[in-house]
Amino acid sequence: MTACPAPTADLLDRLAHLLGPSGILTAPSDTDPYCTDWRALYHGRTAAVLRPADTAELAQAVTLCAQAGVAMVPQGGNTSMVGGATPDDSGREVVICLSRMNRVRRIDPLDHTMEVEAGVTLKAAQDAAREAGLMLPLSISSEGSAQIGGVLATNAGGNNTVRYGNARELVLGLEVVLPDGSVFHGLRRLRKDNTGYALRQLFVGSEGTLGFITAAILQLQPQPRATEAALCAVADAKGALALFAAFRAQDPALIQAFEYMSGAGMDLVTRLVPGASLPLAEPAPAYVLVELATPRANADLRGALEDVLGAALEDGTVTDAVIAESEGQRMALWKLREEHAEAQRRAGASVKNDVSVPVSHVPELIDRATAACAALIPGIRPAPFGHIGDGNIHFNLVQPEGMDPAAFLALDHRIMDTVGAIVRDLDGSFSAEHGVGRLKPYMMPDWRGGAELATMRRIKDAIDPRGLLNPGAIFPPDTGNPARV
Ligand code: MLT
Ligand code: ZN
Repeated sequence: MTACPAPTADLLDRLAHLLGPSGILTAPSDTDPYCTDWRALYHGRTAAVLRPADTAELAQAVTLCAQAGVAMVPQGGNTSMVGGATPDDSGREVVICLSRMNRVRRIDPLDHTMEVEAGVTLKAAQDAAREAGLMLPLSISSEGSAQIGGVLATNAGGNNTVRYGNARELVLGLEVVLPDGSVFHGLRRLRKDNTGYALRQLFVGSEGTLGFITAAILQLQPQPRATEAALCAVADAKGALALFAAFRAQDPALIQAFEYMSGAGMDLVTRLVPGASLPLAEPAPAYVLVELATPRANADLRGALEDVLGAALEDGTVTDAVIAESEGQRMALWKLREEHAEAQRRAGASVKNDVSVPVSHVPELIDRATAACAALIPGIRPAPFGHIGDGNIHFNLVQPEGMDPAAFLALDHRIMDTVGAIVRDLDGSFSAEHGVGRLKPYMMPDWRGGAELATMRRIKDAIDPRGLLNPGAIFPPDTGNPARV
């Protein structure tokens, strides 16, 4: 629980005066949606949700809260998988939501950059880039709701990391409101800028613990002239990697996405998500969704796809495959992949393990973690899927049929630690792209202890000495987070 004081009536009055009626919510019926995370794992309370209209308003609101010593929880689209943006249940933390700051400020076609505010959804930013003939190459399942500020604060990864890297790789410049209300004006459009510490990279992935990202300069890519997608049936993750190697040997620059889905995960999607059906003759033990794309004119992309698939069908790596013949069919293939998290939500309680290992270790990870979880909880339903091309597997586990969801969730640490032990043995990470949030700080001392966590702590203390920003995220209470006791 936060150790900071509750906002006083006087502070709330001053904030209301500053932000106006549409900039502050205080009625519980209005604030409730901001106090629960997407997965409904966390339920908090808040005296106020602040919704500033621009950076200047935000800076003033943060100044007022900081002067009063009040803790602040930054929030964007509220799509965190790890409770990264939910206030605690003390009612003393103020939520600051940047969704009203939702302008695409400019797109520079020659520079291949866009300047975008924190509250723009990732989807809206992608659309704006596309309209300008360019591409914002970041794509995640929640892109219709996830906002740029949160996407950057969590260094989101997603489906195109295999080609373009994570959010971090796309950020050229940032504007950030710091915990004392001062503003770091770093909206530079430069590909080269070696002028001291690359501060922007400190805020990317800091999960709202160091500042509020209010706007960013993102690097764009040329719009692909051709895109091809195929769903392929394979025997297992080993087969998926053999196919990946074949596409990479042909031309690594063509691979836009390379996604793995287990038969169990696909079964949940086709049974539980309306409008999702398998376009193959029969279900398979595992699947790959591969997407190739190129900005080159006159490239025979279909030929490239068919060459690799033909050889893979011949040598048995792929047992069946379907190529999208239209944009509608391509979207239908992606729906099968993108609806995995939703299908698992519909199947009951689930525990997510957003882990990464070196690509070559993915098959061993899946085999060993499947066996270990089955031994831990009979009837548990592993449904691994994810970004196999970059080594990030969502080793998600759905509760056994008929089990009490709360009883299953009570075992989440045991499940995460069971999978975690194998991930560690394979030189991996316990959080590949979702972050640490409020779900996983307990893992930090063990995984990132010693000098690494101590250095993070010193950086936090230097920028936010009173621990006012997003208390409870990243740092476990016993590593000196001053705002949580
Ligand atoms: C995804 O790639 O769809 C997600 O990160 C979802 C998840 O882990 O459930
Ligand atoms: Zn993912």
